[in-house]
Amino acid sequence: MSFADYQFEIYLDGLNGRVSDFPMDYATLESRAAEALPPSLHSYIAGGAGDEATQRRNAEVFAQWGLVPRMLVGAAQRDLSVTVWGQTFPSPIFLAPVGVVGLVTHDHHGDVAVARSAAATGVPAVFSTLMEDPLEEVIGHAGSTPSFFQLYTPTDRDLAASLVERAGRAGYRGIVVTLDTWVPGWRPRDLSTGNFPQLRGHVLANYTSDPVFTKLAGSEPVVPTWARIFGNPLTWDDLTWLRSLTDLPLILKGISHPDDARRAIDGGVDGIYCSNHGGRQANGGLGSLELLPEVVEACDGQVPVLFDSGVRSGSDVVTALGLGATMVGIGRPYVYGLAVGGVAGVTHVVRMLLAEADLLMAVNGYPDVAAVRANLRRSERF
Ligand SMILES: Cc1cc2nc3c(=O)[nH]c(=O)nc-3n(C[C@H](O)[C@H](O)[C@H](O)COP(=O)(O)O)c2cc1C
Repeated sequence: MSFADYQFEIYLDGLNGRVSDFPMDYATLESRAAEALPPSLHSYIAGGAGDEATQRRNAEVFAQWGLVPRMLVGAAQRDLSVTVWGQTFPSPIFLAPVGVVGLVTHDHHGDVAVARSAAATGVPAVFSTLMEDPLEEVIGHAGSTPSFFQLYTPTDRDLAASLVERAGRAGYRGIVVTLDTWVPGWRPRDLSTGNFPQLRGHVLANYTSDPVFTKLAGSEPVVPTWARIFGNPLTWDDLTWLRSLTDLPLILKGISHPDDARRAIDGGVDGIYCSNHGGRQANGGLGSLELLPEVVEACDGQVPVLFDSGVRSGSDVVTALGLGATMVGIGRPYVYGLAVGGVAGVTHVVRMLLAEADLLMAVNGYPDVAAVRANLRRSERF
């Protein structure tokens, strides 16, 4: 069974008179999700910082790169598996942390739906601190697929330690610390409707279920307490403390400069996650893919490099792998899959991306990622 087989499943269904209800391309997926979601939630997910130039650029810069086909290779089987932190995954993609997935399904258990899809596909999810269900509940639905916990580091160190400790106890296999979001970026779509889900009391289950948070809040309502402690403008001096919180793999998300990557590795992290948060935080930046090669070079094979921002298709996945990413994060596409079809919708998006990636490797004669790297060229047209 290969990822490519999804295409034959779809054609065979067609022979039997069943045509998939799910979109087969990103543009249709995006517009179907816009119809399915409440407008304020849709604009929170679809929107980004400033005039969203960086957000668009994230996706557009993939076109700077192209793959050169190789013939008579007979790449009948492609190996897309990847081993990181002692674990082997069948594919090199993962679901990036998205704080409002809890709200995306009608029952407001979207985090659980994502976990179920991870169980079904073997594609791991990184779960955000911002969940509708507590982290202990959510991981229980991921089956044997490893899950990762993404930490928004609060200003209270005991609360940070408590969240990390809970994640470890619950069985999460790594801690992803997001560095670029101690304060939300300027997001015109949300500002123009005055909508910020957390301030309306959403996706705070990991806080309200936490003994340290409950103590901090005392008799104060949850939202003001949360707003007071949410964002910690960490500095390099905090890295030793962060490292001391866990023996699990520690991965820093938001690293875009090679010097930062080197310094983080010197500080003992186990993974570098190159991302600009999908252009939601700072406008005016380069596309993350443009920064990936330098970050990969700085990491020099010492730790895995995770990447996200702008991945929309299977060919984007392959391009990011070709530029040195160890694993590639899917963001908005799977959230739109969740909006359109719940667990089955996420599973469809994952299988669609992997089928496209696998098929293009087959057609191009690439049995593995090494062959992709050897045959990726920068185009002079862009
Ligand atoms: C609606 C939304 C919420 C997000 N929430 C989080 C979060 O809670 N934690 C985090 O580290 N990143 C968060 N991200 C960023 C994603 O992990 C990822 O970096 C981004 O979606 C990649 O960009 P793309 O979706 O355009 O490909 C969020 C992204 C979106 C779209």
